Amino acid sequence: MSIVEKAVEKLRNLQPGPPASPAAEAVPAPSASTIERLSGRTHTDQATESPPPWHVDLVALERAGLLPAGDEANDRLANELRRIKLPLMDNAIGKGAKVVPRAGRIVVTSAVPGEGKSFTAMNLALSLAREVDFDVLLVDGDIPKSHITRALGLDGKPGLMDVLVDERRQPAEVIVGTDVPNLLVVPVGRRHPLTTELFGSLRMEHVLEELGGRHLRRLVVFDSSPLLATPESQVLASHMGQVVMVVAAGRTGQHAVDSALQSLSEEQYVGLLLNMSCLPASENYYNTYYGLYPRVHLAGEA
Ligand SMILES: Nc1ncnc2c1ncn2[C@@H]1O[C@H](COP(=O)(O)OP(=O)(O)OP(=O)(O)O)[C@@H](O)[C@H]1O
Ligand SMILES: [Mg+2]
Repeated sequence: MSIVEKAVEKLRNLQPGPPASPAAEAVPAPSASTIERLSGRTHTDQATESPPPWHVDLVALERAGLLPAGDEANDRLANELRRIKLPLMDNAIGKGAKVVPRAGRIVVTSAVPGEGKSFTAMNLALSLAREVDFDVLLVDGDIPKSHITRALGLDGKPGLMDVLVDERRQPAEVIVGTDVPNLLVVPVGRRHPLTTELFGSLRMEHVLEELGGRHLRRLVVFDSSPLLATPESQVLASHMGQVVMVVAAGRTGQHAVDSALQSLSEEQYVGLLLNMSCLPASENYYNTYYGLYPRVHLAGEA
């Protein structure tokens, strides 16, 4: 038996049933994707069991402004994202400085429009999908704009709103597997005039549980509308354990950021991400990141 086969065998033997106790839950089991990677199983092998993976067109994403243009900007962003995602992953597996309830749910939001939420959500999800120990579910929670849904070519497909409205539908039905390893997507679906009420419903909590809240190895990343622009974004954020608050450098006033932070709960892990900070005129891309801090540091709380 080769080393890889032995490792696969070992991982298979470690696959648990439902966790017996909170202590058992704190030691996450290896994900199926780890086993598949080690055993050399590919998406092609799975094609007979489920629909073919959705093709993620990176060129279309770049055209839609959701990926950085050029290799240099790409490399720089990749490094910045590594720093951003570390505390988020630590919190998700209970290794952060404090216990964060529902830490597997991460929303990317901002105070006002145009600060870089969708760009950050997309790139964060792609970066997290490269992790060996996690899979990532990217949910388009910006119902009015649905930037991510459209950029991925998933407009018109059933999505989040459909499973909220129709209790007979299983949330798993609207999860789209993609050809980016470990990246799953949930599109917006059919828009509904009572989005805020649906987001605030018990059904929403159930849907979120089903989409990934019970799996320590799955991170669910939501794009959203700005906190100060729509009531539904605040309701959506209230379901999340972790909040990445994007702040456009030199554009968003302190007052707006403070008001947006006040709409969040003390229980949540809130990181502030300074985006679009200025670079010398010769460089034509944004610097995405200067720091993602626990809210207590930046907000000056004890
Ligand atoms: N770090 C970045 N590097 C390069 N371009 C960026 C960066 N952040 C944002 N952008 C660009 O800024 C524009 C606005 O970004 P994005 O659409 O992500 O903002 P948003 O907060 O989601 O906006 P909305 O509130 O309208 O949904 C886009 O064209 C995007 O490509
Ligand atoms: Mg957006």
